[in-house]
Amino acid sequence: MQVTLPARLYGCPDAWLRERAGVFGRTWLFLGHEAEAPGAGDWIAADLAGHRLLMVRGADGALRAFHNVCRHRAGPLVSGVAGNCGRELVCGYHGWRYTLEGRLRAATGFGAAEAFDPREFGLLGVRLEIWRGLAFVTLDADAAPLAGTVAPLEALLAGRGLDIARPAARRAHELACDWKVYAENYLEGYHIGSVHPVLSDELGSAEYRVRVEGDLVIQEAVGVNDGPQAGVWGWLWPNLGINVYRDGAMIERMTPVGPGRVRLDYLFLNDGGEGALGEALVASDRLTDEDASICEAVQRNLSAGAYETGVLSTVHEGAVGWFQRRIGEIHQ
Ligand code: FES
Ligand SMILES: [Fe+2]
Repeated sequence: MQVTLPARLYGCPDAWLRERAGVFGRTWLFLGHEAEAPGAGDWIAADLAGHRLLMVRGADGALRAFHNVCRHRAGPLVSGVAGNCGRELVCGYHGWRYTLEGRLRAATGFGAAEAFDPREFGLLGVRLEIWRGLAFVTLDADAAPLAGTVAPLEALLAGRGLDIARPAARRAHELACDWKVYAENYLEGYHIGSVHPVLSDELGSAEYRVRVEGDLVIQEAVGVNDGPQAGVWGWLWPNLGINVYRDGAMIERMTPVGPGRVRLDYLFLNDGGEGALGEALVASDRLTDEDASICEAVQRNLSAGAYETGVLSTVHEGAVGWFQRRIGEIHQ
């Protein structure tokens, strides 16, 4: 019998700090699609578990990632989620100017200072690698190359002839629940019958399967694999859902924004034309509303104090168990 993680780890400031470093500080994290920054000076930025990161395309066409923090007194280089900064990144506080490669070009109006060498005040770089157009970053300088992490996903997509298309739309939601509540909900189909009546009807008698391969959880409904729903739901540790269908894909990043709060960033990648995208957005909004209601109710109960631990089904919740064991190791 696998007992669940204790309720006190959900929404707790200490747990958030430990997971921020032990999970999000040590793995490859999805930042965005390379097509979201097509030209020189185009940037996208994200707050990933309190790690404030940006990627920007240089004049040489290469994408580079940096912490979104100025080396003077920690001002932000960009604000918002996407934009174009022209030929340089300019700090929003006192105007220090950096090249798109991260070199400090001018400490604007700073004046002379003994032993101040601008070459030592370049932006703090972050490793970035691209897989099938998706840009990942890691704060771990010793992390193994991204290819190893995505290998099971690459094999799955290649084996099915599925592709990852270009971005067509974005959506974001913020939920009042711990990121783990949302991730665990994502990792099982046990709740579909109770929480998602329309999806449940669509799946009909299809057999719902969940399995884990390396850092990847694969979920699929066997028996509906020739309609537009044909595809596979992948979930890559620690926070990335990649749902690939016949006519497109949907990427879903679930990131803690503080203890007991999660932000969902959806990127719709669509090859099926306007109609297919419209349908995907409607279905996604409905499913998110349904999941948000149940996850926020679960969080309120976890915080209320009566419930301490529960138990996981070996039939339906194998991937939840795998997730909780990995989280548990960080809190030992
Ligand atoms: S903090 Fe960036 S210029 Fe001062
Ligand atoms: Fe759900």
